[in-house]
Amino acid sequence: MTSRRILTALTATALLLAVAGCSDNGTDPTTGGGTGTTVSFAADLQPVFNQSCNGCHGAGGFGGLDLTAAVSWANLVGIESMGYAPTQRVVSGNPEQSVLYLKIIGDASVGNRMPLGGALDLDTMEQFRVWIAQGAQNN
Ligand code: HEC
Repeated sequence: MTSRRILTALTATALLLAVAGCSDNGTDPTTGGGTGTTVSFAADLQPVFNQSCNGCHGAGGFGGLDLTAAVSWANLVGIESMGYAPTQRVVSGNPEQSVLYLKIIGDASVGNRMPLGGALDLDTMEQFRVWIAQGAQNN
């Protein structure tokens, strides 16, 4: 099994659990660690944007993408990407169809890996995946 297939299988399992309404019982596989933790957009992900992205993704940023705190969520979730339309930047519940996630893991289907010239650490990439799988909430 490729890691991509495992990710897809995990995502499918997560969706099934979400539909069944038992995603917060402490064994949620979306965390990858079984702790049932919910990823917070504001507390966990926005600091990553501030530190690693917003030198290039402030107001008028590259790719038409502004990731500053007041507007980042609204510019991502359910919004068609500028460079990879019709694919959306974030498809709630589906990391593998989200330009944001594909770009941070370096998937060649969406051009350059982000942050441009570098890479986030694996735990941070996983937080983005889990946040999208958990419904990409503005939390
Ligand atoms: C050194 C500058 C630079 C940094 C730092 C950077 N980016 Fe980018 N980003 C770009 C450029 C240039 C583009 C447009 C070309 C492309 O799509 O690769 C872009 C495009 C994007 C897009 C596609 C937007 C669209 O709608 O087409 C996403 C998503 C993105 N970046 C996310 C991020 C994230 C998340 C980070 C931080 C982890 C980040 N970028 C850091 C330069 C940067």
